[in-house]
Amino acid sequence: MVKKESYGTTKSGKTVDLYTLINPNGIEVRAITYGGIIISLKVPDARGELADIVLGCNSLEEYTKGVPYFGAIIGRYGNRISQGKFTLNGTEYTLATNNGPNHLHGGVKGFDKVVWKAEPFDNQNGVGVVLTYLSKDGEEGYPGNLNSRVTYTLTTQNELIFDYHATTDKATPVNLTQHTYFNLSGDGQGEILNHQLTLNASHITPIDSALIPTGEILNVTGTPLDFTEPTAIGTRIEQKNEQLKFGQGYDHNFIINRSEENNSFVARVHEPVSGRVMEVYSTEPGVQFYSGNFLDGTIIGKTGKPYQRRAGFCLETQHYPDSPNKPNFPSSILKPGETYESRTVYKFSTRMP
Ligand code: GLA
Repeated sequence: MVKKESYGTTKSGKTVDLYTLINPNGIEVRAITYGGIIISLKVPDARGELADIVLGCNSLEEYTKGVPYFGAIIGRYGNRISQGKFTLNGTEYTLATNNGPNHLHGGVKGFDKVVWKAEPFDNQNGVGVVLTYLSKDGEEGYPGNLNSRVTYTLTTQNELIFDYHATTDKATPVNLTQHTYFNLSGDGQGEILNHQLTLNASHITPIDSALIPTGEILNVTGTPLDFTEPTAIGTRIEQKNEQLKFGQGYDHNFIINRSEENNSFVARVHEPVSGRVMEVYSTEPGVQFYSGNFLDGTIIGKTGKPYQRRAGFCLETQHYPDSPNKPNFPSSILKPGETYESRTVYKFSTRMP
């Protein structure tokens, strides 16, 4: 079932709608057209009890006040571009900078802060909403008119699928992702440090103290960044390790060990008390595992409690950060005549230990 209602009006007078998607198993996704933000996601625990497992706010006004990308679509380029500069076909481009001297998550007004057009659907694949946005030539400094389309589908198999599609009229970097913060115990239930994480990755792109990749590919086997075997997020997070120090915890691009499958297994998260499990599959080469290190209790969440440090985690599937300046990384450049296609699946289930 898909339901549409009004969610308010932005300061500039744009109307924002709320779409509610429900599948036959009771999973419910609520997404708004401002930033494509997923404002709630209810999934059952092992006893069948539903809980909202994503962080967020209670009103459009709060979302527009500057929250750290809760639930939003990220674009035109997810993650950091060093100094907000890159050179493409001999031209140097200067982007908006919003993270010290660097460009983060699309700039000052990225895809998380614009109102998307929306079309709901209900078909044999599930229920969902197609979100579209035209990012004009020069927006936040990027070249080319970028027509972007992001489809959210909730299937009968308890999957939430993100399909990304884009075309351009000038070569441009593109790296679309989704920045939902999860807490599988339930929103407002404290830290995520007991969640058991498996990451299908033996390498990362190590960062410097400004979280910009050095350009190296680092094997993390046997280090606190090795999640190839299920491990609680909190077990090693405070260990002495240069990468954990720079990230103030986990905030790294993990390189997915790709299988023959186009949609590779990326991650599994298991919360042992509720029994909730989330699996991630993606066509992308990397995933940013972010352990909510910058949350500091200043934002009051949906349940009325402040979001303390590590109240949520993100798994942002992506091309590697700063790819436009790192020729050895997989290219993130979309050219006219090409289509950008990317898919990420979050699948929900339960398992008692
Ligand atoms: C991403 C970045 C983090 C942080 C969050 C938002 O995950 O990698 O460093 O900026 O977004 O706070």
